[in-house]
Amino acid sequence: MNLQWYPGHMTKAKRQMQEDIKLIDVVVELLDARIPVSSRNPDIRTLAGGKSRVVLLNKADLAEEVETLRWKERLEQEGSFVALVNAKNGSGVKNVQFVIRQACQEKLERDRKRGILNRPVRAMIVGIPNVGKSTFINSFAGRACAKTGNKPGVTKGKQWIRLNKNVELLDTPGILWPKFEDPQVGRNLAFIGSIRDEVVNTLELALELIACLTEQHPGLLTQKYEIEEGEDAVSVLSGLAIRRGCKRKGDEPDLEKAAALLLDDFRNGRLGRVTLELA
Ligand code: G4P
Repeated sequence: MNLQWYPGHMTKAKRQMQEDIKLIDVVVELLDARIPVSSRNPDIRTLAGGKSRVVLLNKADLAEEVETLRWKERLEQEGSFVALVNAKNGSGVKNVQFVIRQACQEKLERDRKRGILNRPVRAMIVGIPNVGKSTFINSFAGRACAKTGNKPGVTKGKQWIRLNKNVELLDTPGILWPKFEDPQVGRNLAFIGSIRDEVVNTLELALELIACLTEQHPGLLTQKYEIEEGEDAVSVLSGLAIRRGCKRKGDEPDLEKAAALLLDDFRNGRLGRVTLELA
């Protein structure tokens, strides 16, 4: 799904989340490991209230491993329980249930003291659009898990996925919104393809990406496309257009086409693993 939010969406999503949060023990927030700040919802602390929180750095396959580990450490220092995940191929997904249990340790201990044993921990997946919630739920739940169905009077209308005797998952994820007001956030979300290309200027975006990559990862574009990086972003893009045979009539370099190609390569990991926000 691509981002296209209106105030009405946000109010509805917020209300829904506030309802759902009452039913669960732990909020599992998915972030994009390439942009852990920009993919984070500004109000999650308030929304999650006193519930335990787990942060999953998803799409870890597209981010730089060292940077993702730095983020993990930083988020843990801030009090979150963190796991690295690739929801698409399932790596790291199995470990999440242990992290969820860890995050709920205090609650489980309280339950135990009150004689409540074997009550599964209830979790809910939340995150901004396109961060990988559905992919994660499918991967986490797997084929073996049956839906437990509605429990009349208790969780009316809600479906739970029983992962095992320890963990149950609400089958509908909570959709959060990003920090729209921050232009840097908008730019980062556009880079990774979470804002519809129809509403952004692809050429401008590609030029910004070139500026960002040549500053943060000097040499990367030269290495991948065998083009000069030294000049300004327009000449880098022009070099890419020539190199890749993107031409208009009269042999003019087709910058629009080269922009689309660059963005596509970046989003699909063909430029290698790139973390845009550092811990
Ligand atoms: P959402 O529910 O949060 O909106 O996200 P969704 O699961 O639909 O995932 C959005 C896109 O991100 C999908 O790609 C999905 O395959 C991809 N994705 C999710 N997790 C990972 C991950 O860990 N690594 C990588 N590389 N990609 C991930 P898509 O292009 O929309 O669809 P498709 O390519 O799977 O057909």
